[in-house]
Amino acid sequence: MSRHKVTVIGAGNVGATAAQRIAEAGLADVVLVDIVEGLPQGKGLDLAEAAPVVGHDARVLGTNDYADTAGSDIIVVTSGLARQPGMSRDDLLTRNAGIVRAVVAAAAAVSPEAILIIVTNPLDAMCHVAMEASGFPRERVLGMAGVLDSARFRAFIAMELGVSVEDTHAFVLGGHGDTMVPLPRYSTVAGIPITELLPPDRVQALVDRTAKGGAEIVALLKTGSAYYAPAAATFEMVDAILRDRKRVLPCATLLTGEYGVDGLFVGVPVVLGAAGMERVIEIRLCDDEAAAFQRSAAAVRELVEVLHA
Ligand code: APR
Repeated sequence: MSRHKVTVIGAGNVGATAAQRIAEAGLADVVLVDIVEGLPQGKGLDLAEAAPVVGHDARVLGTNDYADTAGSDIIVVTSGLARQPGMSRDDLLTRNAGIVRAVVAAAAAVSPEAILIIVTNPLDAMCHVAMEASGFPRERVLGMAGVLDSARFRAFIAMELGVSVEDTHAFVLGGHGDTMVPLPRYSTVAGIPITELLPPDRVQALVDRTAKGGAEIVALLKTGSAYYAPAAATFEMVDAILRDRKRVLPCATLLTGEYGVDGLFVGVPVVLGAAGMERVIEIRLCDDEAAAFQRSAAAVRELVEVLHA
């Protein structure tokens, strides 16, 4: 079997941690790119030197040159500014749009068949920027948000009920932001909806904590934002694609009429496999959920309009 190649742009906290997970799982050779000279080279060499101890043969290369990324199967984009305390995801919009546009154009030019996984915030708007800058079809432009948001919801459900995280499933729709839409009736412990296991006020408390999950970490770290869970969530998407697993995962994808939304990236459950986003899974929402989903989509639309203004 030939080796897979994954480029991770941005050798900061999320990018380097994602690179470590991908390499140490032996999933693919990894090229770590950053604008800062020495940073990707140093982290790349450090990861390569861990390989004999960890026991994998994935190659890790750090570079500032996009020529080294040529022929990648997947390009993960984490470059940008991380959210600081008091800064909303949306404050980052214009500055990160410029960064994402530039890096995606450079990387897509030398890996025209790659699948893009966007991680930089504000996530859904950055997916639009990446799609425009690459010219890739919607199947090959995905945003990582839903897997992270669901992971947070699952962690909170497991903590609340004292059960294994493995037996939890959670469903989070919508944009990655304050308007995300956790769906408790589709969030389960061993198939049992949490609405059957917890009183409504506790369910609501978990939903609220999930929606503010990113801010909770920022408030604690003070000098940056979450990266272990974002990197783990990114890894799960890379694994689903490279191993053609047809995983059903919530991802930001360009909706073309599904869920009553056309022409916007919003988080919905999709089938992830070798072709990227292979299918959108549409579920029927009740009135409250549909309204919350539309509010979330409207928040994404607002950001996209700012970018196009
Ligand atoms: N090209 C390449 N790399 C760049 C560029 C650029 N034009 N601009 C910035 N970077 C790099 C920075 O040098 C830095 O190393 O992106 C990296 C970002 O890393 P961190 O600041 O550690 O941020 P991180 O915590 O990894 O978050 C990255 O992911 O979850 C989101 O909101 C988060 O948008 C943020 C992104």
